[in-house]
Amino acid sequence: MIEILKMVETRDLNAMKSNAADVIHFVAESMKLAFADRAYWLGDPDYVKVPKNLISKKYAVSLAQKIDMEKVSLVKEHGTPDKAQEEVFPDLSKKHTTHFSTADADGNWVSCTATINTSFGSKVVIPGTGVVMNNEMDDFSAQPGATNFFGLVGAEANAVAPRKRPLSSMSPTIISKDGEPILALGAAGGPTIINQVVLTIINSIDFKMPLDDALKTPRFHHQWTPNELKIETNWVASVMTDLEKRGHKLNKVNSFGACQVIAKNPEGKGFIGAADPRGLGKAIGW
Ligand code: DON
Repeated sequence: MIEILKMVETRDLNAMKSNAADVIHFVAESMKLAFADRAYWLGDPDYVKVPKNLISKKYAVSLAQKIDMEKVSLVKEHGTPDKAQEEVFPDLSKKHTTHFSTADADGNWVSCTATINTSFGSKVVIPGTGVVMNNEMDDFSAQPGATNFFGLVGAEANAVAPRKRPLSSMSPTIISKDGEPILALGAAGGPTIINQVVLTIINSIDFKMPLDDALKTPRFHHQWTPNELKIETNWVASVMTDLEKRGHKLNKVNSFGACQVIAKNPEGKGFIGAADPRGLGKAIGW
Protein backbone atom coordinates (compact mmCIF):
# COMPACT_ATOMS: atom_id res chain seq x y z
CA MET A 1 0.00 0.00 0.00
CA ILE A 2 2.73 2.44 0.95
CA GLU A 3 4.73 1.63 -2.18
CA ILE A 4 1.70 2.42 -4.34
CA LEU A 5 0.94 5.62 -2.43
CA LYS A 6 4.54 6.78 -2.70
CA MET A 7 4.33 6.42 -6.49
CA VAL A 8 0.99 8.21 -6.53
CA GLU A 9 2.54 11.01 -4.49
CA THR A 10 4.92 11.79 -7.35
CA ARG A 11 2.03 13.24 -9.43
CA ASP A 12 -0.73 15.73 -8.87
CA LEU A 13 -3.85 13.57 -9.03
CA ASN A 14 -6.11 16.59 -8.74
CA ALA A 15 -4.55 18.07 -11.85
CA MET A 16 -5.21 14.74 -13.62
CA LYS A 17 -8.73 14.15 -12.49
CA SER A 18 -10.52 16.03 -15.29
CA ASN A 19 -9.84 12.85 -17.23
CA ALA A 20 -10.71 9.94 -14.96
CA ALA A 21 -8.90 7.55 -17.28
CA ASP A 22 -5.62 9.35 -16.59
CA VAL A 23 -6.06 8.78 -12.86
CA ILE A 24 -7.12 5.17 -13.28
CA HIS A 25 -4.27 4.46 -15.68
CA PHE A 26 -1.62 6.03 -13.50
CA VAL A 27 -2.83 4.45 -10.26
CA ALA A 28 -3.36 1.07 -11.90
CA GLU A 29 0.15 1.11 -13.37
CA SER A 30 1.49 1.96 -9.90
CA MET A 31 -0.47 -0.95 -8.45
CA LYS A 32 0.96 -3.28 -11.08
CA LEU A 33 4.54 -2.26 -10.32
CA ALA A 34 4.03 -2.65 -6.57
CA PHE A 35 2.39 -6.05 -6.97
CA ALA A 36 5.34 -7.23 -9.09
CA ASP A 37 7.56 -6.29 -6.14
CA ARG A 38 5.19 -7.92 -3.68
CA ALA A 39 5.34 -11.15 -5.67
CA TYR A 40 9.12 -11.26 -5.49
CA TRP A 41 10.21 -9.58 -2.27
CA LEU A 42 7.50 -9.99 0.33
CA GLY A 43 7.28 -12.87 2.77
CA ASP A 44 7.47 -13.52 6.48
CA PRO A 45 10.33 -11.25 7.68
CA ASP A 46 11.34 -13.99 10.14
CA TYR A 47 12.44 -15.93 7.05
CA VAL A 48 13.24 -13.42 4.34
CA LYS A 49 14.87 -10.02 4.16
CA VAL A 50 12.21 -7.56 3.02
CA PRO A 51 13.91 -4.45 1.58
CA LYS A 52 13.11 -1.30 3.49
CA ASN A 53 13.66 0.84 0.40
CA LEU A 54 10.63 -0.67 -1.33
CA ILE A 55 8.85 2.24 0.30
CA SER A 56 11.55 4.87 -0.18
CA LYS A 57 10.71 8.05 -2.01
CA LYS A 58 13.69 7.62 -4.33
CA TYR A 59 12.54 4.16 -5.42
CA ALA A 60 8.96 5.35 -5.89
CA VAL A 61 10.18 8.17 -8.14
CA SER A 62 12.24 5.71 -10.23
CA LEU A 63 9.27 3.36 -10.62
CA ALA A 64 6.78 6.11 -11.40
CA GLN A 65 9.06 7.39 -14.15
CA LYS A 66 8.52 4.08 -15.96
CA ILE A 67 4.83 4.75 -16.26
CA ASP A 68 3.86 5.77 -19.80
CA MET A 69 0.66 7.80 -19.64
CA GLU A 70 -0.28 6.85 -23.22
CA LYS A 71 -0.20 3.10 -22.94
CA VAL A 72 0.16 0.23 -20.53
CA SER A 73 3.70 -0.88 -19.88
CA LEU A 74 4.77 -4.47 -19.74
CA VAL A 75 6.14 -5.19 -16.27
CA LYS A 76 8.27 -8.25 -16.92
CA GLU A 77 9.61 -8.55 -13.41
CA HIS A 78 10.00 -6.94 -10.02
CA GLY A 79 12.19 -3.89 -9.42
CA THR A 80 15.16 -3.72 -7.06
CA PRO A 81 15.43 -0.86 -4.60
CA ASP A 82 18.78 0.37 -3.26
CA LYS A 83 20.48 -1.83 -0.67
CA ALA A 84 17.76 -4.44 -1.10
CA GLN A 85 19.39 -6.95 1.20
CA GLU A 86 21.25 -4.63 3.55
CA GLU A 87 18.44 -2.33 4.66
CA VAL A 88 15.56 -4.56 5.62
CA PHE A 89 12.45 -4.23 7.77
CA PRO A 90 13.22 -4.84 11.42
CA ASP A 91 11.38 -7.26 13.67
CA LEU A 92 9.01 -5.06 15.64
CA SER A 93 7.42 -7.86 17.62
CA LYS A 94 9.56 -7.45 20.71
CA LYS A 95 9.01 -3.74 21.23
CA HIS A 96 6.89 -2.88 24.23
CA THR A 97 8.64 -0.06 26.05
CA THR A 98 9.17 3.42 24.65
CA HIS A 99 11.13 6.38 25.89
CA PHE A 100 10.78 10.01 24.84
CA SER A 101 13.07 12.86 25.84
CA THR A 102 12.07 16.34 24.86
CA ALA A 103 12.73 19.99 25.70
CA ASP A 104 11.60 23.38 24.46
CA ALA A 105 12.79 26.97 24.26
CA ASP A 106 10.72 27.94 27.32
CA GLY A 107 12.78 25.68 29.52
CA ASN A 108 10.31 22.79 29.73
CA TRP A 109 11.94 19.39 29.76
CA VAL A 110 10.23 15.99 29.69
CA SER A 111 11.67 12.55 30.12
CA CYS A 112 8.97 9.91 29.75
CA THR A 113 9.10 6.13 29.63
CA ALA A 114 5.96 4.06 29.03
CA THR A 115 5.63 0.30 29.02
CA ILE A 116 3.18 -2.58 28.88
CA ASN A 117 6.00 -4.80 30.22
CA THR A 118 6.32 -7.78 27.83
CA SER A 119 4.98 -8.33 24.29
CA PHE A 120 1.29 -7.35 24.17
CA GLY A 121 1.30 -7.10 27.98
CA SER A 122 -1.37 -9.32 29.48
CA LYS A 123 -2.73 -10.03 25.98
CA VAL A 124 -6.02 -8.47 27.08
CA VAL A 125 -7.54 -5.54 25.19
CA ILE A 126 -10.29 -3.44 26.78
CA PRO A 127 -13.21 -4.15 24.42
CA GLY A 128 -13.92 -1.37 21.98
CA THR A 129 -10.83 0.67 22.85
CA GLY A 130 -7.79 -1.05 21.35
CA VAL A 131 -6.00 -0.38 24.65
CA VAL A 132 -3.71 -3.26 25.55
CA MET A 133 -3.54 -4.05 29.27
CA ASN A 134 -0.07 -4.46 30.70
CA ASN A 135 1.24 -7.44 32.66
CA GLU A 136 3.17 -5.29 35.09
CA MET A 137 2.31 -7.63 38.00
CA ASP A 138 5.45 -9.50 36.95
CA ASP A 139 7.44 -6.53 38.26
CA PHE A 140 6.43 -7.57 41.80
CA SER A 141 8.44 -10.35 43.37
CA ALA A 142 6.08 -13.30 43.51
CA GLN A 143 8.10 -14.89 46.35
CA PRO A 144 11.46 -14.03 47.90
CA GLY A 145 14.14 -15.34 45.58
CA ALA A 146 11.80 -16.23 42.69
CA THR A 147 12.91 -14.72 39.37
CA ASN A 148 10.60 -12.73 37.13
CA PHE A 149 10.50 -12.52 33.32
CA PHE A 150 13.73 -10.51 33.31
CA GLY A 151 15.55 -12.80 35.72
CA LEU A 152 15.26 -10.28 38.58
CA VAL A 153 14.78 -11.42 42.14
CA GLY A 154 13.16 -9.44 44.93
CA ALA A 155 12.20 -9.71 48.56
CA GLU A 156 9.39 -8.74 50.94
CA ALA A 157 9.83 -5.06 50.08
CA ASN A 158 8.55 -5.74 46.57
CA ALA A 159 5.87 -8.30 47.51
CA VAL A 160 2.34 -7.88 46.11
CA ALA A 161 -0.08 -5.92 48.28
CA PRO A 162 -3.30 -3.98 47.69
CA ARG A 163 -2.73 -0.52 46.20
CA LYS A 164 1.00 -1.16 46.10
CA ARG A 165 2.98 -0.39 42.97
CA PRO A 166 5.57 -2.86 41.71
CA LEU A 167 9.20 -1.89 41.36
CA SER A 168 10.12 -0.63 37.95
CA SER A 169 13.47 -0.36 36.23
CA MET A 170 12.17 2.52 34.15
CA SER A 171 14.48 5.45 34.78
CA PRO A 172 13.28 8.59 33.04
CA THR A 173 15.96 11.07 34.08
CA ILE A 174 16.61 14.79 33.95
CA ILE A 175 20.03 16.01 35.04
CA SER A 176 20.48 19.59 36.18
CA LYS A 177 23.52 21.77 36.61
CA ASP A 178 23.27 24.91 38.72
CA GLY A 179 19.53 24.37 38.91
CA GLU A 180 19.05 24.21 35.13
CA PRO A 181 18.31 21.02 33.17
CA ILE A 182 21.17 19.99 30.90
CA LEU A 183 20.31 16.41 29.94
CA ALA A 184 17.12 14.33 29.66
CA LEU A 185 17.34 10.65 28.93
CA GLY A 186 15.80 7.25 29.44
CA ALA A 187 15.62 3.86 27.82
CA ALA A 188 13.74 0.66 27.05
CA GLY A 189 14.93 -2.83 27.89
CA GLY A 190 13.74 -4.10 31.27
CA PRO A 191 16.43 -4.03 33.97
CA THR A 192 19.06 -2.99 31.43
CA ILE A 193 17.30 0.41 31.39
CA ILE A 194 18.99 1.36 34.66
CA ASN A 195 22.46 0.56 33.37
CA GLN A 196 21.89 2.03 29.93
CA VAL A 197 21.03 5.34 31.57
CA VAL A 198 24.00 5.06 33.92
CA LEU A 199 26.40 4.35 31.05
CA THR A 200 25.01 7.14 28.89
CA ILE A 201 25.47 9.60 31.76
CA ILE A 202 29.04 8.39 32.35
CA ASN A 203 29.87 8.60 28.64
CA SER A 204 28.34 11.99 28.17
CA ILE A 205 29.17 13.77 31.43
CA ASP A 206 32.31 12.08 32.73
CA PHE A 207 33.89 11.16 29.39
CA LYS A 208 32.47 14.24 27.62
CA MET A 209 31.54 12.22 24.56
CA PRO A 210 29.21 13.74 21.97
CA LEU A 211 25.72 12.27 22.49
CA ASP A 212 25.84 10.04 19.41
CA ASP A 213 29.07 8.46 20.64
CA ALA A 214 27.74 8.19 24.18
CA LEU A 215 24.93 6.02 22.84
CA LYS A 216 26.98 4.12 20.28
CA THR A 217 29.65 3.02 22.74
CA PRO A 218 29.31 -0.72 23.46
CA ARG A 219 27.32 -1.51 26.60
CA PHE A 220 27.51 -3.87 29.50
CA HIS A 221 24.99 -4.80 32.16
CA HIS A 222 25.07 -6.63 35.48
CA GLN A 223 21.92 -7.15 37.53
CA TRP A 224 23.35 -9.31 40.33
CA THR A 225 21.23 -12.29 39.40
CA PRO A 226 21.96 -14.03 37.15
CA ASN A 227 25.60 -13.61 38.12
CA GLU A 228 26.86 -12.76 34.66
CA LEU A 229 28.04 -9.73 32.77
CA LYS A 230 25.89 -9.11 29.72
CA ILE A 231 28.22 -7.42 27.26
CA GLU A 232 27.94 -6.24 23.69
CA THR A 233 30.23 -8.09 21.33
CA ASN A 234 31.73 -5.01 19.72
CA TRP A 235 34.14 -4.44 22.60
CA VAL A 236 37.63 -5.34 21.41
CA ALA A 237 38.59 -8.95 22.10
CA SER A 238 41.36 -7.98 24.55
CA VAL A 239 38.80 -6.28 26.83
CA MET A 240 36.69 -9.44 26.86
CA THR A 241 39.70 -11.60 27.67
CA ASP A 242 40.79 -9.24 30.42
CA LEU A 243 37.31 -9.36 32.01
CA GLU A 244 37.22 -13.15 31.80
CA LYS A 245 40.62 -13.29 33.50
CA ARG A 246 39.14 -11.26 36.35
CA GLY A 247 36.44 -13.89 36.77
CA HIS A 248 33.51 -12.34 34.89
CA LYS A 249 31.14 -14.80 33.30
CA LEU A 250 30.38 -13.05 30.04
CA ASN A 251 27.03 -13.26 28.31
CA LYS A 252 27.96 -11.88 24.89
CA VAL A 253 25.10 -10.35 22.95
CA ASN A 254 25.08 -8.40 19.70
CA SER A 255 23.22 -5.48 21.20
CA PHE A 256 20.65 -4.53 23.80
CA GLY A 257 18.47 -1.63 24.77
CA ALA A 258 17.38 1.65 23.24
CA CYS A 259 18.26 4.89 24.98
CA GLN A 260 17.08 8.34 23.85
CA VAL A 261 18.70 11.54 24.98
CA ILE A 262 18.48 15.29 24.60
CA ALA A 263 21.01 17.77 25.97
CA LYS A 264 21.51 21.47 26.21
CA ASN A 265 23.99 22.42 23.52
CA PRO A 266 27.20 22.89 25.54
CA GLU A 267 28.61 25.16 22.84
CA GLY A 268 25.78 27.58 22.45
CA LYS A 269 22.06 27.96 22.14
CA GLY A 270 19.49 25.24 21.71
CA PHE A 271 19.65 21.49 22.08
CA ILE A 272 21.34 18.40 20.76
CA GLY A 273 19.32 15.20 20.46
CA ALA A 274 20.42 11.65 19.82
CA ALA A 275 18.57 8.41 19.28
CA ASP A 276 20.06 5.03 20.03
CA PRO A 277 21.49 3.56 16.83
CA ARG A 278 20.31 0.14 18.11
CA GLY A 279 16.66 1.19 18.11
CA LEU A 280 14.12 2.75 15.79
CA GLY A 281 13.99 6.14 17.50
CA LYS A 282 14.85 9.46 15.89
CA ALA A 283 16.18 12.73 17.19
CA ILE A 284 14.33 15.56 15.49
CA GLY A 285 13.34 19.17 15.71
CA TRP A 286 16.21 21.20 17.07
O1 DON B 1 9.01 -1.36 34.65
C1 DON B 1 9.83 -2.22 34.35
O2 DON B 1 10.92 -2.32 34.87
C2 DON B 1 9.48 -3.18 33.24
N1 DON B 1 8.07 -3.34 33.19
C3 DON B 1 10.04 -2.65 31.94
C4 DON B 1 9.82 -3.59 30.81
C5 DON B 1 10.62 -3.27 29.61
O3 DON B 1 11.37 -2.32 29.56
C6 DON B 1 10.46 -4.19 28.48
N2 DON B 1 11.26 -3.82 27.41
N3 DON B 1 11.73 -3.50 26.52
